Amino acid sequence: MNIRIPRGTQDILPGRSEEWKYVERIWHDICRRYNYAEIRTPIFEQTELFQRGVGDTTDIVQKEMYTFEDRSGRSLTLRPEGTASVVRSYVENKRFGLPDQPDKLYYTGPMFRYERPQSGRMRQFVQFGVEAIGSDDPAVDAEVISLAMEFYREAGLKGLKLVLNSLGDHESRNAHREALISHFSPRIGEFCSDCQSRLETNPLRILDCKEDKDHPLMKNAPSILDYLNDYSTRYFETVKELLDKMDIPYVVDPNLVRGLDYYNHTAFEIMIEGEGFGAISTLMGGGRYNGLVEELGGPESPGIGFALSVERLLMALDAQNVEVPMQQGLDCYLVTQGGEPDKEAAALLMELRRAGITADKDYMNKKMKGQFKAADRKQALFTAVLGEEEWNAGIINLKNMQSGGQEEVAIKELPARLSEQLKEEK
Ligand code: HAM
Repeated sequence: MNIRIPRGTQDILPGRSEEWKYVERIWHDICRRYNYAEIRTPIFEQTELFQRGVGDTTDIVQKEMYTFEDRSGRSLTLRPEGTASVVRSYVENKRFGLPDQPDKLYYTGPMFRYERPQSGRMRQFVQFGVEAIGSDDPAVDAEVISLAMEFYREAGLKGLKLVLNSLGDHESRNAHREALISHFSPRIGEFCSDCQSRLETNPLRILDCKEDKDHPLMKNAPSILDYLNDYSTRYFETVKELLDKMDIPYVVDPNLVRGLDYYNHTAFEIMIEGEGFGAISTLMGGGRYNGLVEELGGPESPGIGFALSVERLLMALDAQNVEVPMQQGLDCYLVTQGGEPDKEAAALLMELRRAGITADKDYMNKKMKGQFKAADRKQALFTAVLGEEEWNAGIINLKNMQSGGQEEVAIKELPARLSEQLKEEK
């Protein structure tokens, strides 16, 4: 039987995994500087969490969840996103009682959505995300957005476009909802079946429909920005003002509605412009979710966050030919020649590694010539040759592969001498 990897998943092979580690390092580092603490939640949760949190009417809940029964008949779901889990944990661990609010949390981990796989759209993908829960200060919105922009900048991306919208508070959204219903109702029969049911459940999502995007009613649909009440307008104005002060450019798009139900006020996405991107140019998305903590059983606590996927980030880095520093290669390749020297090599390698040196040897009985070739392929900075002759004399021949310089070192002295040499090299 020929077993293949499941559709929409990928193996991250050596080389590529170095790029993952590179962006992970930047991510952990920037979250630290912004004072966000890491949270790790389970990969599966009770299904109801996402039904209530993400929303029953969303595509994610209706079409994309990996839901299964465990052996006790509980309905569990592989998490399709991180926000619901983080908010569940915030409530369950009573983090709303901590003296320092907002609770600034970040996470990293695989998410699962049963989508039609294509480049940049996977069934298992890894999100980096942050959630700041407990404050309705617009400065938190600006901080979260700036963290995302700075992260991409530090990773080396250019040509980013920040798209911003306000979905308003409850009152504003209701007024807009009524306007959308009156606008679309008379001709809803001309829309796709999804939009027909959205008219009742969530008319805002009609604006996001790919199938009906060219329908004439879409062009002059009521804009949420015309229905914002005073508080929502002021809130949005402050967020924009703070972004201006941070020199973060943005465009306002009243049709940015996002695909999850929990949002209100600020909604945002970062897109990438330029060559190399097909249908998918959205790198990340996020927004404010002021009712979600209550929805999940906690006290009134406003929140905001975003998530991005590493897969799309790496696609963008590839498209822009960004050079990623690789932690590859060896400090030292130990070349040995059968018998006693080979046995000595095992212990010597352990000493080298204990001294912080990246080292390896041959395990395939290669001739010395083949071992030197392997050292070249692995870009070893030094080779240390321990042949029969050297072994008998208690020495090792240390060769700098770049300069060609050689010296003889007592076997026991090798870790210390090599460490010195490497310091000079690096
Ligand atoms: P989302 O827009 O569903 O929001 O996903 C956020 C990001 O995850 C997307 O912009 C994209 O980079 C990535 N993504 C989503 N689906 C896939 C996929 N199938 N393959 C690869 N990448 C994907 C959320 O998940 C919200 N929880 C974000 C948030 C956090 N809002 C507030 N806090």
